[in-house]
Amino acid sequence: MFKPAPVDQNQLADALKPFGQSRMLPVGAYLDEAVLAWEREHLFAGWVALGRSEEIGKPRQMKAFGLGSSGVLVTRGDDLELRGFENACRHRGHELLACDATAEARAIVCPYHAWAYRLTGELIGAPGHKEAESFDPADYPLHPVDVREWHGWLFADRGSSKTFEEHVQGLDAILANYEGQELVTVETHEYDVAANWKVVVENYQECYHCSSIHPELCVVSPPESGDNIDPQGDWMGGDMDLRDFAATMSLDGHSDGIVMAKLDEREQRTVMYLALLPNMLLSLHPDYVMTHLLTPLAPGKTRIRCSWAFPRQVAERAGFDPAYAVDFWDLTNRQDWAACESVQRGMSTPGYVPGPMAPAEDGVYDFVRYVARAYAGE
Ligand code: FES
Ligand SMILES: [Fe+2]
Repeated sequence: MFKPAPVDQNQLADALKPFGQSRMLPVGAYLDEAVLAWEREHLFAGWVALGRSEEIGKPRQMKAFGLGSSGVLVTRGDDLELRGFENACRHRGHELLACDATAEARAIVCPYHAWAYRLTGELIGAPGHKEAESFDPADYPLHPVDVREWHGWLFADRGSSKTFEEHVQGLDAILANYEGQELVTVETHEYDVAANWKVVVENYQECYHCSSIHPELCVVSPPESGDNIDPQGDWMGGDMDLRDFAATMSLDGHSDGIVMAKLDEREQRTVMYLALLPNMLLSLHPDYVMTHLLTPLAPGKTRIRCSWAFPRQVAERAGFDPAYAVDFWDLTNRQDWAACESVQRGMSTPGYVPGPMAPAEDGVYDFVRYVARAYAGE
């Protein structure tokens, strides 16, 4: 049970009605600081995606991942184990590594006054403290954060009521054939979008907008071909067909990669779009996997890191150019962000009230219901 969110209760009741009668979330959910503060405390304090484990693949590597206003430091020890810590020194709180920075070292040394910690978190040195009798380094280990590596992605948890297995229940089978742990990230784009993070997820959950704003997408994938899976864990989504001539999502349907070795017939001819809440969008193509990681910066601002990962033999092929995939989605991303930013501005107009959903927006409903139930304290 959560403390209920500070949103309009009548509008929340409307959002919780059955599909067909339900409305979008209360307007304040997209505009109010207090709602984002509540979401950070309740939705973003559980399991969140950080990035790829390949970023710290070797022993003694570490990386600081930003999580809105604070961050998590993940280290890989000599034993190859991953460990997570709050990215804050036990002395005066300086970040141990700058957000997004990586390092390779035997110890974590705070850049401010050089307190040093083992990669397992114990404090091993605090300059000038030898004479201080009352000081015991054992009293100041780094604060641990649970981290998990799953299909090559990294997740952290600062207090979920769920196990990771409950969080992703049913997803392993959907991801298995894409062999995520074997993929190599080839390109990453970062976008700052002037829209609430939920506007971005809602946009991802429907292709009702595709024929209006994505002419290039409609060339390679029929916009009405979406087929949603009944949600189980903290995720939702479904697949869409590729047109017969198209090998993948690219401007002309061609692929410069290879069809992943283990995909079944359906997986070879569809793209699976999944939202793993709160902050990860996963798009599984026959030949590459695209990931969007969302970090809310403000009610009307979201940082989105979009990455493209390919099977290792493609990624490491001399002269491999991921542009066929990257250019297509960069264009499509920008079309989406423009729409999301316009929605954000429109929702900010006086008198705006949450609207109804179209029959093709059942995926949006799955998301709205998930968030609305959390707002209600369920
Ligand atoms: S804040 Fe880290 S050593 Fe002082
Ligand atoms: Fe779109």
